[in-house]
Amino acid sequence: MTTTTVSRAAEALAGAAPLSLEGIVYAVERQPILKGVSLEVRRSEIVCLLGPSGCGKTTLLRIAAGIARQSAGTVRVAGEIVADDTLFVPAERRSLGLVFQDLALFPHMRVVDNVAYGVKGADARARAGEALRGVGLGGYERAYPHQLSGGEQQRVALARALLPAPQVVLFDEPFSGLDRNLRDVVRQDTLSVLKARDATAVIVTHDPEEALAMADTIALMRAGSIVQVASPEDIWRWPVDLEAARMFSHVNVFEGRVSDGVVETAIGRVPVGARREGEHLTIAFRPEALRVFAEDRGGGVEIDVERRTFFGSTVEIVGRIGGTLLKLRADPYVVPKADKVRVVPDLRQAIVLPRAPRG
Ligand SMILES: Nc1ncnc2c1ncn2[C@@H]1O[C@H](COP(=O)(O)OP(=O)(O)O)[C@@H](O)[C@H]1O
Ligand SMILES: [Mg+2]
Repeated sequence: MTTTTVSRAAEALAGAAPLSLEGIVYAVERQPILKGVSLEVRRSEIVCLLGPSGCGKTTLLRIAAGIARQSAGTVRVAGEIVADDTLFVPAERRSLGLVFQDLALFPHMRVVDNVAYGVKGADARARAGEALRGVGLGGYERAYPHQLSGGEQQRVALARALLPAPQVVLFDEPFSGLDRNLRDVVRQDTLSVLKARDATAVIVTHDPEEALAMADTIALMRAGSIVQVASPEDIWRWPVDLEAARMFSHVNVFEGRVSDGVVETAIGRVPVGARREGEHLTIAFRPEALRVFAEDRGGGVEIDVERRTFFGSTVEIVGRIGGTLLKLRADPYVVPKADKVRVVPDLRQAIVLPRAPRG
C-alpha cells in the first residue's frame, strides 16, 4: 500500500460511524430473537433504543458489546469489523464503554480503584480521580460503593465507562433501579457529562419519556426488529404506525375514507393532502391536539363528559362523541366542571396513517 492509500483509508475510518450494526440476526433454538437489525450510530450522537420488555434490546446491546455473538450480520466499531461470520473481537478489545445493570461495582474495592480497574499505566489512579471529578464525585475516591447512594454509584459506573475514552458507551436501562425523583436528576447529570465530552452513546430503555428526554435519535424496537429511527420530535409527530404513536401517549383514533383530499370524522373534516381518493385512513390525535373549550364558547363539536380527573395544572376529560370515546386534556380554568365541552382539533397535529390491517 502506498502512503496515499493508507491515509485515504485512515480518513475513511475517521469519518466512519463509531458503531454500526448491519443485518443482525440472533436466534436461540431456531427462535428468532433479532430479525435482521441494522443501526448506525453517528459521532457524538445519543441513540436511545426504545421498546417494550422482551423485544430484544439487551440482546442487541450484548451483541454490539461482544458479550454475545450474532447468528448473522456484521458489527463495526469506527469502521472496523469486530464481529461477522468469521471474526469475533472480544468485548475488552472493542473500545466500548459498558454501563450494564449486571456489571455492578466491585464492593470490596474503593471507588477510585473501581474506576481505574483495567486501566493501564502508572497514572491510572490519578486519571480515575480526574474522571470522578468529571462526574461530580471529587473527594469520594476512598469511599466504598456501599457508602454511596444509588445515583452516586451510577455516576461511578459512568466515570469507569468513560475513562478509557471509548468509541461508544453502551447503557442498558441505567436508571431503572433508581426511584423517580432521583432518576430525573441522574438522567440529567449523565446527559451533561456525555454532552460535555462529545461522547457517543447507545442507551437502552423501555421508558418513552426517558428516550424523548435524552435521545438525539430514537430507534424504536418491536419484536426483534427496529421499526423506526427518528429524532424525538419527529417520532412523536410522525410515528410509523398506531402502535408507535401509542408508545408515547394516548391517541384518539378515527377512521374514514378520503374524499377530495379530506377525511370526514366525528370531530370534523381533516385535510390529508395528496392521498388516493377513497383510501381508507386512520387519523389519530394526541390529547393535546384536541383543544377543549367550555360549552358556551361555540364552534367545534360537542362532547359529553363522562369523567373529569383533576391533575392540578391540567384536567383530564374522558368524553364521548357518538360511539367514540375520547381522552382529552384541558386547562382547568378555561373548562369548568360541566356535562358538555366543545372540542376543536388542531389539524396540523393530525397523525395520518394508512388504516392498520386488522389482526
Ligand atoms: N440466551 C437466551 N436463551 C433464550 N432466550 C433468550 C436468550 N436471550 C434472550 N432471550 C429471549 O429473547 C427475548 C429478548 O430478550 P432481551 O434482549 O433481554 O429483551 P429486552 O432487553 O428488550 O427486554 C426475550 O424473549 C428473552 O426471553
Ligand atoms: Mg433488557
